[in-house]
Amino acid sequence: MSGHDAPTSGLGPRRLRADGVRELVSETDVQASDLVAPVFVDATTDERQPIPSMPGHERVPVDEAVPRVREVLETGVEAVIVFGIPESKDPEGSRADAEDGVVQRATRAITAETEAYVITDLCLCEYTDHGHCGLLEDDAAEDPRLTVRNDATLERYRSIAVSQAEAGADMIAPSGMMDGQVAAIRDALDDAGHDDVPIMAYAAKYASAFYGPFRDAADGAPAFGDRRHYQMDPANAREARREVARDAAEGADVLMVKPALPYLDVVADVRREFDHPVAAYNVSGEYAMLHAAAEQGWLDLEAAAYESLLSIKRAGADLIITYFAEDLADQL
Ligand code: PBG
Repeated sequence: MSGHDAPTSGLGPRRLRADGVRELVSETDVQASDLVAPVFVDATTDERQPIPSMPGHERVPVDEAVPRVREVLETGVEAVIVFGIPESKDPEGSRADAEDGVVQRATRAITAETEAYVITDLCLCEYTDHGHCGLLEDDAAEDPRLTVRNDATLERYRSIAVSQAEAGADMIAPSGMMDGQVAAIRDALDDAGHDDVPIMAYAAKYASAFYGPFRDAADGAPAFGDRRHYQMDPANAREARREVARDAAEGADVLMVKPALPYLDVVADVRREFDHPVAAYNVSGEYAMLHAAAEQGWLDLEAAAYESLLSIKRAGADLIITYFAEDLADQL
């Protein structure tokens, strides 16, 4: 038999599915070193607060940031992305770039006391009293077409980026989806002498229903309207290529797609079209739904979580931000 004609009976592809050889021919794997664990630091609390919609995750006070990160490191995961819940909110999100802001304090402590690689999420939605990712237009509450001012918001992002880098952030991850945000932040970082700090762009970030639990966790739900005027339309994949190309041209070092599982076509496309490292964010809703099903006894949590992350890798992601990071690394 030439090997090109498919036989009509007898074993074929099953020959390589036997124990002993299956691992040798496997194309994809997930390692602890591929994973980034989200950490929530909360300036409004003195005690760890469980996040009900994200079982196993907590908001921790600033002085628990280091112990929290040590727990992550013990599992073998080496990178964290830090989100902050500030002590107070206002229309400009003025605590986002405060030298003694929640993320700045936590980052200073974590980088001083641990070996973790610290990525800081850069956005305003946790810091503004209206919950939007930037400064509002005057008529925003009346006219949903006018929500967030683009270039005025970029000025805020520049300042936040510099304050995070001064606090010791190893990488900055802007998630607000303003146009030009990568270029603005790159320029601000370079001007301030932080040309060694890379940018992981939330490049194709969709206006997704899967962020629900995160908005509880980080207290960042918009007080009115939604984020469809700045985040991407879930209907669009070709547009993602244009968005990502812009971020790449603006100097993004890592290109992220978010969410992950409902957008694996986009992950695969970005992998094919760009040479940059590709990140995928396996978001809070993707985590919460597996937990909810497992709680009912309808899914095996460990197996479903591993298969999810394996699929994200198979689609082409080099790194994955995931709430499963610690559990999975423990299991590996
Ligand atoms: C902030 C931000 C969000 C997430 C990460 N950064 C929320 C949003 O855009 O509404 C979501 C993460 C998740 O759901 O796990 N802009």
